[in-house]
Amino acid sequence: MVAMSQTDTSITQTAAAARAAELREQIKHHAQLYYVQDAPALPDAEYDKLYQELQAIEAAHPELLTPDSPTQRVIGRVLDGFTPVRHAVPMLSIRTETDTEASGARSFDDRVRRELKLAAEAPPVEYAAELKFDGLAMNLRYEQGLLVQAATRGDGETGEDVTQNVKTIALIPKRLKGATAAVIEVRGEVYMRRDDFEALNERQLAANEKTFVNPRNTAAGAIRQLDPALAAQRPLSFFAYGLGEVQGWDVPPTHSAMLDALQAFGLPVCADRAVVQGAEGLIAFHQAMGPRRDQLPFDIDGIVYKVNSLALQRQLGFVTREPRWAVAHKYPAQEQVTRLNGIDIQVGRTGKLTPVAKLEPVFVGGTTVSNATLHNLFELRRKRVRVGDQVIVRRAGDVIPEIVGVVPGVREAYVPNFRMPRACPICASAVARERGGIDHRCTGGLFCPAQRKQAMLHFAGRRALDIEGLGDKLVDQLVDAGIVTSLPGLYKLGVAKLAALDRMAEKSAQNIVDALEKSKKTTLARFLFGLGIRQIGEATAKDLARHFGSIDRIMDASVEQLLEVRDVGPIVAQSIHQFFQQAHNREVVEQLRAAGLTWDEGEGALAGTGPRPLLGKTLVLTGTLPSLSRDAAKDMIEAAGGKVSGSVSKKTHYVVAGEEAGSKLDKARELGLVVLDEAALLALLDQPPA
Ligand code: IVH
Repeated sequence: MVAMSQTDTSITQTAAAARAAELREQIKHHAQLYYVQDAPALPDAEYDKLYQELQAIEAAHPELLTPDSPTQRVIGRVLDGFTPVRHAVPMLSIRTETDTEASGARSFDDRVRRELKLAAEAPPVEYAAELKFDGLAMNLRYEQGLLVQAATRGDGETGEDVTQNVKTIALIPKRLKGATAAVIEVRGEVYMRRDDFEALNERQLAANEKTFVNPRNTAAGAIRQLDPALAAQRPLSFFAYGLGEVQGWDVPPTHSAMLDALQAFGLPVCADRAVVQGAEGLIAFHQAMGPRRDQLPFDIDGIVYKVNSLALQRQLGFVTREPRWAVAHKYPAQEQVTRLNGIDIQVGRTGKLTPVAKLEPVFVGGTTVSNATLHNLFELRRKRVRVGDQVIVRRAGDVIPEIVGVVPGVREAYVPNFRMPRACPICASAVARERGGIDHRCTGGLFCPAQRKQAMLHFAGRRALDIEGLGDKLVDQLVDAGIVTSLPGLYKLGVAKLAALDRMAEKSAQNIVDALEKSKKTTLARFLFGLGIRQIGEATAKDLARHFGSIDRIMDASVEQLLEVRDVGPIVAQSIHQFFQQAHNREVVEQLRAAGLTWDEGEGALAGTGPRPLLGKTLVLTGTLPSLSRDAAKDMIEAAGGKVSGSVSKKTHYVVAGEEAGSKLDKARELGLVVLDEAALLALLDQPPA
């Protein structure tokens, strides 16, 4: 028996040693990709799993622990090209609590209480709770109040001097307000806001340059640009969360008071922080921030809890590379690995064929995901996905789930590359791709039931003809049963025909007929938008209506005449011209007119000649206005010649803020923009307040 168990132990020990060696290799490889090359190949959660498995093996078999194990040191290396900076106070990391439930906060509080030898009945420990920003750590050294050096974390002991690049970050003061201490080192996170990230990617696309994967890597890449001029083109932000070396400054006694002081010095400190009592306070903060996470203008991957008293922090001290007084409490991951079971094709309103990934259902970002868009064939090829692969799925907030990439590894068997079908899976018409274009399209047009359905839904949409009650299910029924085959056909529907449909009560049928009747009186812009001409969004439809003033003039316009409309370029002009060159499309317009549709043809001419006080101005709407709906405000601004944009930037002229305005208002204040309330907007438009 004894001999047996000894053999057992040595077998498990050999296996553990082999597994530990394997894990160390993998962790080092992924850490190199993550920290040094800013090109991670694994979601953070997967990396954490490898790390924790190694920690567990080392805890069970201390004899296997090696000094160079990734668990024993801070990974990262100084890149060539920057001057190394030795940190006066090492930049450490914080332990991550992987239990994302409330119990995660409790076990941290338990550890703190145990270390402080607090009796069970002793009052709760006071904590500072703040966000865990997803960017890169930075040490800002101020001497006599002047920014003299900025350094990355590097391996924690030695970082890189990135002062020139950091000086391009407008939010970071070059001189502290009212601080003249010999040395104050401020630690915090450099990050990129989501709207800045999206705008950057739009600029990259427009310039035919490669787009960036996520804000964190883009921020890290920007900081490591050897050319500060290039770094300056990537808009970065900063939040302070701690201190490094301090000389000649009486540091306030708590973490929260210290952050207040940093804020008073002019440093950006995130407003979403709180001082709380005990584990219950931590849990409440974690739970309150969870649902707000996706509405924040920047990415976070959890909450950081810190013992608030700096004296208690000193008493608690550090274990190897992590302070005992702080912990990161994560949220459920927004990225997960799962198997790609197949690829389906969806046909959209304009006939676009979209490859959709069929996934082994996986819980990510708070829901179970089994489909994710692959956008188009080129995107799919770029990501190198094949059926059977383990893929990384991302779902953040309300954003549609996406495939980020493939987990590198060996494919079990040869899998042929995906090909677009040559015939539409819905109507069997030929599939074509325009020369130089990226999208494949069904050429069936309104002959294709999928396109017909989407075209009707678009026509009935809120910003088009606004036919209430004409939704997905009804359109499916109408098209599948062959009851309606074209847009004008909608207006031939009567109560009897509708009421004969499955699950349709007489009352609902009457409501739809009424809604159809009501929709007949519309505007030229809505009508034009509703036709679903490719490239014609709402704004272009409004511009066209304003410029031409009548549908007949638009139908007969040459490409040259169309090009005279503001913001209409060759692609858009071509698209409109082609649409109305086709007899069947003109026929649809005639039949809709015959069905009794009318629109205010004079609207365009009127708006075109009326006063346009907001011409050339860009406005951003945020929050709820007291009387105007968002759509109404947008319409008024546009009629006055202004544009409404979704994000605040230096180019924004006015921000119109109502009740519960959020981050856009903060950003406007940060940038010193003019903020208007509803009354001020109306005054600007020269309208009497409602
Ligand atoms: S405090 C000694 N606070 O997380 C404690 N870190 O693993 C030092 N981070 O490298 C860190 N938000 O880049 C702290 N509110 C926050 C943070 C934060 C993000 C990052 C930081 C650090 C890593 C710790």
